[in-house]
Amino acid sequence: MRLTIVDDYDALSDLAAQLVIDLIKAKPDAVITLPAGSTPIGMYARLVQAFREGKVDFSRIRLFDIDTVVAPLEDPHTHYSYLMEHLVRWTNVSRDKWYYLDSSPSDVVRFANEYEQRIRAAGGIDLVIDGLGHNGHLGYNEPGSSFSSRTRMVALHEKTRRANARWYSSVEQVPATGITMGVGTILEARFIVILVSGRDKAEIVRRVVEGPVTEEVPMTAIRLHRNSRMIIDRDAARMLSPLSFAAAESGSEIGC
Ligand code: GLP
Repeated sequence: MRLTIVDDYDALSDLAAQLVIDLIKAKPDAVITLPAGSTPIGMYARLVQAFREGKVDFSRIRLFDIDTVVAPLEDPHTHYSYLMEHLVRWTNVSRDKWYYLDSSPSDVVRFANEYEQRIRAAGGIDLVIDGLGHNGHLGYNEPGSSFSSRTRMVALHEKTRRANARWYSSVEQVPATGITMGVGTILEARFIVILVSGRDKAEIVRRVVEGPVTEEVPMTAIRLHRNSRMIIDRDAARMLSPLSFAAAESGSEIGC
């Protein structure tokens, strides 16, 4: 895993958007997995802006969702609604090349297997972008998730539900379950980029970068990947050791 420390949220959003644009320029039909949450909002704003300025063409990309809460598809909190609101409706992403997660499938096991098959049929994922949960989750792979896990339904961790409560009027209204790509599914992507911003993420960033690689902190799995990159701002980096700053500076790999 390569670590990049940037000055602030704007620089993080600029870099993330540029990585997406560069990939699409190199491979117009790239297979891309995008996240929800507050962290990527700046990246999406820049992607929409770049589209308006004619700097990027999304028409051939193939999109997969990383995770969603379980709720009716059009519920404002599903990944489908989020991506529609932040990217799809403002750009020329082709709706029939968007393999969104069905957030209320009638047969979840069958749906999850089909989703995995679709990823394989697309030739695998070129780029996964995700954020980092306070408990170290990767997508909705909560602590204890196997590194070989696949797309499935999961119970959301208490901490995750509390973090998600800011989108609802109370924590009781946050769905108890989600559907997520597995850690194993994500690790098969050719490139993984994790975006982290803010002081409140500093402790979990320290554990991901400097702690042991463990299923108790699912995000540590990306240290096993040969082409992964964590982009964090200075606030999120404030608990890292000088050694980690040096590794970021020199671009050397942070392994396990
Ligand atoms: C959420 C999602 C992740 C997301 C992360 C960070 O619960 N399951 O995919 O990236 O937590 O969210 P935020 O960017 O809002 O801090």
